[in-house]
Order: sequence, then structure tokens, then C-alpha cells
Amino acid sequence: MKFTRVKSLRGEITVPGDKSISHRAVMFGSLAQGTTTVENFLRGADCLSTIDCFRRLGIQIDETPELITIHGKGLHGLTAPSQLLDAGNSGTTTRLISGILSGQSFETTLTGDASIQKRPMKRIIEPLTQMGASITSLHGNGCAPLNIQGRPLHGIHYTTKVASAQVKSSILLAGLYADSATSVTEPALSRNHSELMLRQFGADVQTEGTTATIQPGPALAGQKIVVPGDISSAAYFIAAACITPDSELLIRNVGTNPTRDGILRVCRMMNADVTILPHAQNDGEPSADLLIRSSSLKGCVIEGELIPTLIDELPVIAVMACFAEGTTIIRDAAELKVKESNRIDVMAENLTAMGAQVTATDDGLIIEGGRPLRGAAIDSHLDHRIAMSFAVAALNADGETEIQDAECVNISYPAFYQDLNRISSRT
Ligand code: S3P
Repeated sequence: MKFTRVKSLRGEITVPGDKSISHRAVMFGSLAQGTTTVENFLRGADCLSTIDCFRRLGIQIDETPELITIHGKGLHGLTAPSQLLDAGNSGTTTRLISGILSGQSFETTLTGDASIQKRPMKRIIEPLTQMGASITSLHGNGCAPLNIQGRPLHGIHYTTKVASAQVKSSILLAGLYADSATSVTEPALSRNHSELMLRQFGADVQTEGTTATIQPGPALAGQKIVVPGDISSAAYFIAAACITPDSELLIRNVGTNPTRDGILRVCRMMNADVTILPHAQNDGEPSADLLIRSSSLKGCVIEGELIPTLIDELPVIAVMACFAEGTTIIRDAAELKVKESNRIDVMAENLTAMGAQVTATDDGLIIEGGRPLRGAAIDSHLDHRIAMSFAVAALNADGETEIQDAECVNISYPAFYQDLNRISSRT
């Protein structure tokens, strides 16, 4: 797909539903008694993989363009699938469902695409095995395909090495099936959608600092879930409006959970012209409209506890940094290497191809801002967030940019290019 410079970005945009919350709504709805309805569900390939897995586990899930309806069968209502479960490209599906499958009385084999088969699963195999499950990485490399034999589980207190909501959620979900309380302590707080939504479904989940504890037992009850817009998808428009001249963009209904809103804090640090217009809050997931205008950005340091709150936004933040005055340093983000692609190397390689001055480090990137970008051939490595980040960069580069496998945005934002085109003005 080819891209050239735009003059301005103007208008309004509504980004699709939050990916993390959409996955969880299907999973917890499947484990609840009764019906769960989900409005503004993200119909991206990753969340459709979750629907497909739960259908194979015997759950009826009805889809209309407006509503997903899950006919939950309770904590012990899943049935053995007749075939492999395929999580596609989705790390969230793979890791969270592994926690659930660990507590079942049947055996499952779980696989995914070439990228998923390279992503580290030892981080869930270890705690779930400690709880009593039997999990085998079939190729012996600590990755999927995984054979999971559910067993009676024991509660544990687990301290994770990395702040990962997927690991935390996997353990908490297994904890629903354990014989005593299960708790997870992480080095920094990762996104807390599981804790909030499990509580809404009736689970007993307590949090204190970076420790979350779940008690086994209470039955979950079907809920009505309204998914806010995905701040990770809004991030491309936040960045694009900041770096494009003469731009003003209103992004409607964006989830602003404080464990996800690091991009807004970075905007403040970079001097971006962002106005947050909060909505009245009626449950645990806050949301807001965001008004973004062209900005004179300055470089900043992004590190420490901020990292888990913006981990998926770092590729597009690196693009913003190319348009900022001064140096931006991203550190403590080694997790970027084990996402859908190695996002440290892939960002450095592609930004360098566009003429940016970027250094890849062990745990992040150093970007010297202020050098004009030029169009280039970009390899997305089939990573949706890389493709979207470079579509944003290309709108502000000289010449033509061609993004390979650009359609991989289907994973999280199928209408991304149409939406970007609709607000772009070239005259
Ligand atoms: C997610 C957690 C994060 C994030 C991913 C979605 C989730 O992954 O990068 O896109 O929904 O729990 P990690 O748990 O590996 O940090």
C-alpha cells in the first residue's frame, strides 16, 4: 500500500472497541452463567480468534454488527474441543485461555500463526505448572503449540519477572479453579482490565499495589458490557494530528483507564496540544473524548513504571519523537522484542530507512528528533502496530512510502486506512 504527504488532518474519528476488553468480555462471558452482551466489540482478527476458540469449547456466541451475545455455561461448562484451538496472531488469546484450560477436566492443544509460535510461553507455563497443570510445548522451545492437560489446581502466590497483564490474567483465571486463593505480584502495575471485569462478573478479586488476589468459588453471572474505544488505536491519530501541520482532530469515546493512558502522559511531557474531555464514569473503565491539534513537540525520557501503561504505543511514540525537537530516550522496554515482531529492531530498521536518526538499545530506542523523513519501502513484518505507525510517518514524509503487508492492520483495526483517509486533506 502506498502513502504520500498530507496537508492537514481534520474532523472527527471514532476508533473501534478496545482489544483487551473485547477479548475478556468473550472469555468471562463464556465462563459465566447466563447471557452476556457486548456492545462495541472489536471485530478484529485477534478477538475473532477468541470467539472461535470458545465456540470450539462448546459455547454458543451470536454475532450481529451491533452486538455479540455469549450464552455462558458457567465455570465448569466448557467441553473438550474436537480439534486444535487456533489463537491466530493473538498473544492475549493464547495466554489467557491457557489459564482457563489449566483448570478443565480435559486436554487441549492450542496453536497459532508463525508469530505466535515464536512468542515466549514459559512465562505462563511456569506458574500454571506450579498450580498443578501439565503443559507441554510440543516443539520443546517454550512456545506454542501447547498441549494443556487440565488438573485440580492449587492456589499460589506468584511474583512475575515482567509486568504483563497476559501473564497476570492467565494466573488469575486459573485461580478461579484452584483450591485456595491465588495472587500475583508484578514489578509494575500492568493493565487491570481483568481485575475490573472479573469483579463485575462477580468474582472475588482484591488488589493492593501491584498484587492482585483471586478467591476460587463464586459463580460468575452474565453481564452487559459496553466496550470503550481502544486508546492503542487512538494513539495513531493522536500522533498523526500532533505531527501534521494545520491539524485539529476530535477522537470520540477513548478508554482512559490509568493503566493504559501512558500515551497521554507522554503527550504532556512532549508538549503536545491534547485536551482531554472526560465522560461521566459509570463503571470501572473511564473514557473521554480527545481533542488533538498540531504541536511543537519536544523530546523526553520514557521509562520505568510508565512503560507498561503504553507498551503497545511505543512504535508510534517513536514516530512522534522523530518530529520532536531534541532527543527522546525509551528504556526499560525490552518486552518490545517479544511482541508480534521485535519492535525495537523493526522500528529502528524502518525509521532509519526513512532517514531518521535512531539507535536500537537492549531495552529501547534513542531517537534524535528534527530530521525530515523521506518515503521508503517499509517492511511491516506482518505486525499491525508497525504498519499503522509507518502510515502515520508517511503522511509527513517527502516522496512515497510503500508498506508491505499493510493489510495486517486487520488484527486490531480493520478500517484503519479508510478512517485515516477520511480525515486527510491533500489540497
Ligand atoms: C495485553 C497485554 C499486553 C499488550 C497486549 C494486550 C492484554 O501484553 O501488549 O497487546 O490484553 O492483556 P503483555 O501482557 O505481554 O505485556
